[in-house]
Amino acid sequence: MSDDALYDRIAGIYDPWSRSVTEDVDFYVEEAVASGGPVVELAVGTGRIAVPVARAGVRVIGVDESPGMLGLARQYAEREAVGHLVDLRVGDLREPPVTESVPLVAIPFRSLLHMVDEEQKLRALSAAAALLDPDGRLVFDVFAPSEEDIEETDGLWLEREPGIFERADWDARERTLTLTVRSHEHAATMELHWLSAPEWNHLVEQAGLEAVDLYGWFDRRPYDGGEDQIWVCRRPRASAGRASGTRRRSDTSG
Ligand SMILES: C[S@@+](CC[C@H](N)C(=O)[O-])C[C@H]1O[C@@H](n2cnc3c(N)ncnc32)[C@H](O)[C@@H]1O
Repeated sequence: MSDDALYDRIAGIYDPWSRSVTEDVDFYVEEAVASGGPVVELAVGTGRIAVPVARAGVRVIGVDESPGMLGLARQYAEREAVGHLVDLRVGDLREPPVTESVPLVAIPFRSLLHMVDEEQKLRALSAAAALLDPDGRLVFDVFAPSEEDIEETDGLWLEREPGIFERADWDARERTLTLTVRSHEHAATMELHWLSAPEWNHLVEQAGLEAVDLYGWFDRRPYDGGEDQIWVCRRPRASAGRASGTRRRSDTSG
């Protein structure tokens, strides 16, 4: 197993760095509670989502390639007295060390953008699909930047949180964001590779799933071409036909 995973270098600053990212937590907790659990979270990180899910009484199996991130997730779960509900496993999300079938697989906070190309994204989606119960759901969020966002931030060092600096270098042609984060003793540079919504929909279908909802934000507003895409997918049902990828859940239940 990798003991020099990228996020090991910044595990110590991940929580302060992502301190302001709270908008997705209730959404994933709602999905987890509605599923009844257990939930597999791929790329679970420090448990930012997994621990609130466990606090809601739902068992979580969390997979991540970074032992450093998982160590912090373990501490967080113990601190919140939900260690017994959180099962953390070191592994690659494209080959998750999970034999259980579950009603929900979640891949929050754009983690799929770490997959460098469509082939790797498809491997990840297919691996997630393989873990689902027949009625199970895969929920993930990704983004594709606006031109304004690229123009406003390209090449600039921004102090995202006190003492934590972030720089985004955008390659719009390659659709790659090179993101560098640094604080006093921690630094890492990572690449994130985005796709359009139709391209994600195509990969979802290639993975043997259909999109039943595509939201534009965690309050479940419909996707309208903005930066954020929140996908809810399941296995196709004969009675439901192939999904357009944008239908509302109320239109497709049953
Ligand atoms: C942006 S963080 C998200 C963490 C957590 N899900 C959250 O919402 O805060 C991305 C995570 O993906 C993990 N990761 C990246 N590539 C991975 C891979 N191939 N397999 C497993 N984990 C991976 C990193 O170690 C990191 O913890």
